[in-house]
Amino acid sequence: MPTILVTDLAGESSPVDVDSGQSLMEALRDNGFDDIEAICGGCCSCASCHVYLKGDWFERLGPRGEDEDMLVSSVDAFRDNSRLSCQIQVTEELEGLQIQIAEQEC
Ligand code: FES
Repeated sequence: MPTILVTDLAGESSPVDVDSGQSLMEALRDNGFDDIEAICGGCCSCASCHVYLKGDWFERLGPRGEDEDMLVSSVDAFRDNSRLSCQIQVTEELEGLQIQIAEQEC
C-alpha cells in the first residue's frame, strides 16, 4: 500500500495510503478528493481526472498514452507534467509519488 502526497485545489497537501490494483483516479476518489470529478468513469474521454506529477515523477512513470496525450493536451490547464489519473495504475512503485490536482475542465 504505497503512500502518496496529494495537493488539492486549495493548496493543502496530505499523505494518503492508497491500495494497489486500482487506478490513481479511483484511489483519489476513494480517499475523498472530490476535486477529481472523473465524469467518464475512467474511460479516458473526459479529462476531469487531471493531475500534475511533481518532481521527477513524470519521467519515472513514462510517457502518456496516445489517447491520453491527445485528450489532456487539449485542456487549458495542460502542463508538461500533466497526466490523467485514470490512466495511472497504483502499484508499490508509486511509493512517495507527489501529485497536485489540476483545475478540472469538462
Ligand atoms: S476519468 Fe475521464 S479521462 Fe479520466
